[in-house]
Amino acid sequence: MLYIGIDLGTSAVKLILMDENGKIHNTVSGEYPIFFPRPGWSEQNPDDWYAQVIQGIAKLTADIDKTMIAGISCGGQMHGLVVLDENDNVIRPAILWNDGRTTAETDYLNNVIGKQKLSACTANIAFSGFTAPKILWLKNNEPENYKKIRKIMLPKDYIAYKLSGTFCTDYSDASGMLLLDVKNRRWSKEMCDICGVKESQLPKLYESYEKVGNILPELAEKLGLSDKVVIAAGAGDNAAAAIGTGTVGNGRCNISLGTSGTIFISSDSFRIDENNALHSFAHADGHYHLMGCMLSAASCNKWWLEEILHTNNYSAEQEEIKNLGENHVFFLPYLMGERSPWNNPSARGTFTGLTMDTSRSDITQAVLEGVGFAVRDMYECAKKTGVNLTSTMICGGGAKSPLWRKIIANILNIRVDVPVSEEGPAMGAAMLAMTACGEYKTVKDAADVIVKVAKSEEPDPELVKKYEARYQQFKTIYPAMKEVFGIISAQ
Ligand code: XUL
Repeated sequence: MLYIGIDLGTSAVKLILMDENGKIHNTVSGEYPIFFPRPGWSEQNPDDWYAQVIQGIAKLTADIDKTMIAGISCGGQMHGLVVLDENDNVIRPAILWNDGRTTAETDYLNNVIGKQKLSACTANIAFSGFTAPKILWLKNNEPENYKKIRKIMLPKDYIAYKLSGTFCTDYSDASGMLLLDVKNRRWSKEMCDICGVKESQLPKLYESYEKVGNILPELAEKLGLSDKVVIAAGAGDNAAAAIGTGTVGNGRCNISLGTSGTIFISSDSFRIDENNALHSFAHADGHYHLMGCMLSAASCNKWWLEEILHTNNYSAEQEEIKNLGENHVFFLPYLMGERSPWNNPSARGTFTGLTMDTSRSDITQAVLEGVGFAVRDMYECAKKTGVNLTSTMICGGGAKSPLWRKIIANILNIRVDVPVSEEGPAMGAAMLAMTACGEYKTVKDAADVIVKVAKSEEPDPELVKKYEARYQQFKTIYPAMKEVFGIISAQ
């Protein structure tokens, strides 16, 4: 049978058609706009997502026997606030995961309600991209819109709702709302009260690999699909990517270099970072994970090459880079502020160390290395919780660059394994659909059969030494700049 895995990303949606053995039969993608109405704000229209998903399914299945399609599932950008009114109309554009407008609400939650209380209720503290601070922001800044709210959901849940008519979410994505009691996998009544949310406004909770319903008959007819097609709950994109790279079971790691950059460590049992620098979330395999998230990763490279240098030739720019571990230029990748580990929406992108002999390629290299060092910052937080890695999987657009993989392997001093398919979240979503349809008993069974390592990047001891010295220098830049960021971002 065939399964559709959807990756509802920030710049585009990707859809893949996969069979139960992991063979990809077709891939399509479609873009939608992102709006930055003010500095640090970030919004999208849920109906733009839906339109691209429907067009994508039509294109994906145009030349295949549609009776073969058994299930659909979606991995989606996390934390985005989607609100519907009593007629199921979207009330306002979705406020995305990398939106930094909620400083006042985040400060209120962390300092007035208190981090300890938040962590006891949800296993996490407030970060400005999380969903609960956005609900409070709406209450404080758009009371008319707030009053109209009947349904609160996450981006991929809007797609599942439109496809199946079921108002649902899954535990991995719900973890990032700051309304879920992650350990016990249920809504936290206390947090709902704090945020003025009624449980009736929240979706029903499912495991990511559970069936939430079948495709709505009128939609099935429009797309030429059977109305028996199963819709699975799906997952947050990082949990879906972890499934798609086989990051299931205890102590395994996946690094994603997409618009955001994440380090994801799977765990059989509930664990919490006592400093709350890493998020403690449910995993899509029914267990848990720790995760650090930086707000700009591959997007820094895209910004530097496309917006500043006006080139699309990524590999030509990278070919010039020869002096790994010896670059005198440093880059802080905080183009959208930073979440892990700083939790500072006012942080900004910064180049330092420039001299008269700095070349174009030194700066390109600094961008790649700056992202690598910031991943290392998150890895250091993970080490403090007792995590000890020898290897990681890697996925996302940035993972396509052999040079970037080498930089990451040497900055982290661990082996970096590249899966045969880099379609992390879409692949994971397809595997969740397979499990929901009973093709596999567990998500782990699916991963064991489907995920294969294509190649690996081993750290080189000489380069590790050089990068260690550079990382010690990099570490000093943010603390020195923190006050400056506060000053320059003040209105
Ligand atoms: C994770 C996060 C991002 C988005 C990107 O906490 O905010 O990785 O999920 O789509």
